[in-house]
Amino acid sequence: MAAFQPLVFSGVQPTGNLHLGNYLGAIRRWVALQADYPCLFCVVDLHAITVWQEPADLERQIREVTAAFIASGIDASKHILFNQSRVPEHAELAWIFNCIARLGWMNRMTQFKDKAGKDRENASLGLLAYPSLMAADILAYRATLVPVGEDQKQHLELTRDIAAKFNHDFSERIEAKGLGHPIAMGDETVQGFFPLTDPLIEGPATRVMSLKDGSKKMSKSDPSDLSRINLTDDADTIARKIRKAKTDPDALPSEAAGLAGRPEADNLVGIYAALADRPKTDILAEFGGRPFSEFKPALANLAVEKLSPIADEMRRILDDPAEIDRTLRDGADRARAIASRTLADVKSIVGLLNG
Ligand code: TRP
Repeated sequence: MAAFQPLVFSGVQPTGNLHLGNYLGAIRRWVALQADYPCLFCVVDLHAITVWQEPADLERQIREVTAAFIASGIDASKHILFNQSRVPEHAELAWIFNCIARLGWMNRMTQFKDKAGKDRENASLGLLAYPSLMAADILAYRATLVPVGEDQKQHLELTRDIAAKFNHDFSERIEAKGLGHPIAMGDETVQGFFPLTDPLIEGPATRVMSLKDGSKKMSKSDPSDLSRINLTDDADTIARKIRKAKTDPDALPSEAAGLAGRPEADNLVGIYAALADRPKTDILAEFGGRPFSEFKPALANLAVEKLSPIADEMRRILDDPAEIDRTLRDGADRARAIASRTLADVKSIVGLLNG
């Protein structure tokens, strides 16, 4: 059989507000990938409930994330945009992967350790199995390319481990049924049912840090709203947050080396460069020697210019929740057409009577 077709899959949890870090680090890259590959973008509501979610908040946040994607330029008619729980094959494949993945693999996941905290015995079983559901998201479509942040790299390695173990454990069945595709493993080419997915890790250029502490990532869980710019912030709020962003007393340097040891300055220059789609060196050449009192208003203007059309569009979309639900339902129907074929093959490989 021919090699796997390139296909992009990515997911985002519908928890808390989307912010500038999500936009520059993830959403904007997804928008760009649409030009080169068929893409699936998934609002991972089943991952969200691995920790407690207020049901009414969850419903609202699923629609908000969907609206943010569409407002940012995700094309739900050319590509596939849907919420995870509408495609039951994800949970079904995750169960089979739960029987492939080893407990030791799960116990090593740093995100599990962080999220479970000290009281591990009280974490949900779903939180431990989280990476196996993520592997199912990706492999239900046999996606080959997964854009994620650095923090998801370990989960993607686990996805590869699950795919490799499945391909290995069932190699005879896969071959006998003619369901294998060639996979390059070092110098060798083996046959596998699942691809070994490649991560597309976000570059350091798009890592957006907190406006209050340049050493911490901008985060939806930071208690201070001043630490982040939310995609729903209006123009005045954006300008105020940038005005109040932490800086140091020095003027901006004119070369990149001058940003060393100045995390807040580095972050603001990085945000400017990313929003303007210009290299940082360009920004420093323009603003070098000028104080933050001049740079901040320029940054605020740029941020408002780039972000408020998205916020406006988001509000317009959110005015019609029924239309959002229709979009998600239509995406799920198209996703399901692919995932159900994968599941039928998986069941026949594993020996689960089906059909
Ligand atoms: N775990 C990812 C995160 O928290 C979200 C996610 C779930 C995902 N399934 C995925 C990302 C599949 C990429 C592919 O960011």
